[in-house]
Amino acid sequence: MDALQTILNRHSVRDWSDKDVPADILSQILEAGRRSPSPLNSQPWHFIVVQNQDTIEKLMGYAKHGSFLSRAAAVIVVTIEKPVEIDKWLDEHEQYLFSGAAALYNMWLASSALGLGSCWVTMDEQKTEEILSIPSSQKIIGSLATGYPKTDVLHIAPKKTLEEVVSYEKYGH
Ligand SMILES: Cc1cc2nc3c(=O)[nH]c(=O)nc-3n(C[C@H](O)[C@H](O)[C@H](O)COP(=O)(O)O)c2cc1C
Repeated sequence: MDALQTILNRHSVRDWSDKDVPADILSQILEAGRRSPSPLNSQPWHFIVVQNQDTIEKLMGYAKHGSFLSRAAAVIVVTIEKPVEIDKWLDEHEQYLFSGAAALYNMWLASSALGLGSCWVTMDEQKTEEILSIPSSQKIIGSLATGYPKTDVLHIAPKKTLEEVVSYEKYGH
């Protein structure tokens, strides 16, 4: 599938079959995260792959909009070293955070291209830190819950039109 079609077909999947995700597929998804852009190529991210069902259920218990998490084959939690301290100006603009979003989204796209279905899930920061022993120097960006979708029905969420979201030269409608 070409890149544009992968982007256009990507959608949130929240229900999965029992099929395991092979290690090489998982590794390709993580590779897509590793190759993401970041300010001054700081690569401040860390990816925690959670496949232990008990751990996923614990995380699910604190994710307000993640009641489906336990059906995922894997949950990849993305964290960022905050701030990365290689450039004060970039830190002041909180650019380090966006690297995490870029990496998470790259992995989402890669998972779709590889035939998996995924959803970005917002995690409870404090509880996730405790459960996964994440040091306080890290900022939790979110997680990618992934697995093989239960159905191949494409649910494309309604989106605003280009006219609603684009302006030229200056902000406006
Ligand atoms: C930053 C971010 C946080 C999100 N958090 C959640 C979440 O906690 N639970 C969930 O079910 N979906 C979550 N989503 C997925 C959105 O609900 C989804 O992207 C949106 O409804 C549009 O649907 P689509 O992904 O199919 O285009 C999140 C998406 C983003 C980008």
